[in-house]
Amino acid sequence: MNKTLVIYYSFSGNCKKIAEYSKEKLNADLIELSPKESFSDDYDEVVAEWQNNDIKRDVDIKKLDIDISQYDKIVLITCVWWYGISPVMKRFLKEYDLSNKKIIVAASNAGWIGHALKDYESLLPNSIIKGELNLLFSSEKDKRHEMITSIDEIDKWLENIND
Ligand SMILES: Cc1cc2nc3c(=O)[nH]c(=O)nc-3n(C[C@H](O)[C@H](O)[C@H](O)COP(=O)(O)O)c2cc1C
Repeated sequence: MNKTLVIYYSFSGNCKKIAEYSKEKLNADLIELSPKESFSDDYDEVVAEWQNNDIKRDVDIKKLDIDISQYDKIVLITCVWWYGISPVMKRFLKEYDLSNKKIIVAASNAGWIGHALKDYESLLPNSIIKGELNLLFSSEKDKRHEMITSIDEIDKWLENIND
């Protein structure tokens, strides 16, 4: 068994692009996480909603049509929501067992990554985390999709999964 799976959650598309890039680069399989009930399409509305409510609240996620036990290497990519990993990724890590798998993690953000990488570590106590990426995008409203992290940095991070 030497298969790699990329698992991501992306609200506004940044993580999706990097997840697709990672899939190609690693010749991996790809799976997207989604909330059971969709969030609003309006970015500012979601920011306001999640700011005004308790960020620790849970969301249900759609069941995955994949057998994770057949993969020994996992790439996890999520956006940061209020200084931590997205509630969708958090829920996934609570529901699915990734013990003993080799894992690299990324958290996309606009400059305030907060405790997102620590969140991964605490939710993956029995996994082997080989690489952590602070995936930085512009914080300017009109440039939300402009990546500051270089492709070189992403390539180096991806190499860790094969070490
Ligand atoms: C509800 C919400 C909360 C966010 N909280 C943060 C934050 O705490 N720190 C930060 O740097 N960026 C924050 N952002 C910005 C996103 O993390 C950033 O734009 C990321 O690249 C989006 O990835 P995506 O396009 O894959 O969803 C937030 C965005 C949303 C929608």
